[in-house]
Amino acid sequence: MIKTCLDYHQETSYDRHRMGGHFLDWADQPALFKTYEGIERVSLPREVELPKRRFSSLVLDRMAGRPATTIDLDTLSRLLLLANTLTAKARTQGGDFYFRSAASAGALYPTEIYAATRGVTGLDDGLYHYGLRDHSLTPLRSGNFGASIMESGKIAEEEVPVVTFFLTAIFYRSAWKYRARAYRYHLLDTGHVEENLALGMKALGFSYDASYHFDDDRVNHLLGLDGKREAALALISLKGQDVLSMQGKREADQLPASIFQASRVSAKEVEYPAIREMHEAGRDKRPEMGQDAGMLYALGPASREWREIESSSRNEIADYPDCVFMRRSKRNFVRSPLRKNHAAGLLQALCASDQEEYKEALCPGVLIGMVEGMEQGFYLLDRNRKASGMVRQGSYLDTMAHICLDQAWLANAGVHFLFLANLDLVDRSWGPRGYRYAMMVAGRAGQRLYVASTAMGLGCCGIGAFYDGEARELLGLNENSRLLYLVAVGVVKR
Ligand SMILES: Cc1cc2nc3c(=O)[nH]c(=O)nc-3n(C[C@H](O)[C@H](O)[C@H](O)COP(=O)(O)O)c2cc1C
Repeated sequence: MIKTCLDYHQETSYDRHRMGGHFLDWADQPALFKTYEGIERVSLPREVELPKRRFSSLVLDRMAGRPATTIDLDTLSRLLLLANTLTAKARTQGGDFYFRSAASAGALYPTEIYAATRGVTGLDDGLYHYGLRDHSLTPLRSGNFGASIMESGKIAEEEVPVVTFFLTAIFYRSAWKYRARAYRYHLLDTGHVEENLALGMKALGFSYDASYHFDDDRVNHLLGLDGKREAALALISLKGQDVLSMQGKREADQLPASIFQASRVSAKEVEYPAIREMHEAGRDKRPEMGQDAGMLYALGPASREWREIESSSRNEIADYPDCVFMRRSKRNFVRSPLRKNHAAGLLQALCASDQEEYKEALCPGVLIGMVEGMEQGFYLLDRNRKASGMVRQGSYLDTMAHICLDQAWLANAGVHFLFLANLDLVDRSWGPRGYRYAMMVAGRAGQRLYVASTAMGLGCCGIGAFYDGEARELLGLNENSRLLYLVAVGVVKR
């Protein structure tokens, strides 16, 4: 029975000598778009003006956002377009396949978005599911559920949200291919979508709150989810200015069975106990005590010499919204060094994370392969001091490519960003729910790197497939520490 972060991570580790084949049943491929039968959808306006800003100025901007009194339908549409949208089409034997602005392991897209709105002009207050295929909202409930959401989450009383977005995962979408390991991807993928949404909030000047710390049962009940096929993972609220009034507080009734059924994505769904057990283990809300978890000092490897990350001017090829829409995974790296200012820009983007609350759940590191003016080696990042420290000199990218299931093209990247955590410390700080925090924070950082790389004309690809034990050994991590996610960035063929 899985009870801790390490239990799950260990149970779903890849081992070169014990891989066993998995036959993909294409006839049973999960549906990629969630639909509700018999409910009329509300179309969102597509022709909306998007904020024109450079990505670097957006991430480095330390201006606090403002709470909103109300927003209009165009603004809600902007936020959803920036969060996740269809960006490219491929013709396949089974029909047209659509790529999306948020990366997803195996392009299986487990993440769904819901919005609970209050006072959006042009839209009745209610709970909606976002359909990104036709950029529409499906109404699931009518009324204002602000008070109930605030009780379920951890939202300050004087900041009743104007809109609360919920990110969920439909487990079978990724489990169809990745089986028990898929929970890693549910969380990483959700982090990718969340980062897009958070960047959108920031670009529009709003203050928002991202929380992984809520009552699972109440939130799933509100969304019409059974918590087994599909479950809520993150909640992002656009802060309002009203003070909570319990007057007229609405509790959410039980939704009809057909709403719950909409989470079914295949006739032959298989349940993987490890996913259920890990998700259940994280059900308890534990007090937030991880603020000073000290992850940087808990991994085993350490650096004695720290160098401040230089500020850099970068030539960006497009404005931030276009970079979100142009983002794709690129694997055609060429053995050409990354420019110094580009490397500094990527490191800065990571250090400027807005994710104060959960950022101690992991520690970023980087394998420098080919970067002008930087020695090859394994470095850790201290985000608080905005500094990098070399742990060990050496050339590691070839070996890491071999560890990443022999994805040889990874050796040609300039750098491999690493997201590391001492999972025992995560458990002790937040309980097993901390696994969600560490993985979603890693996903957020991954999406940030993808968009930053796109802005600089570089290639980028997230990597969730690696032999876990070999990665730990190469990096010299202690017994309880693991690599959670890797993101490669480099120069690509034009
Ligand atoms: C969590 C995660 C893990 C991934 N792992 C791999 C991987 O191991 N190998 C790989 O080639 N691509 C990997 N990818 C890239 C996805 O395959 C890619 O995002 C997906 O096919 C959609 O294509 P796009 O990113 O070009 O839109 C990963 C992406 C994510 C978000």
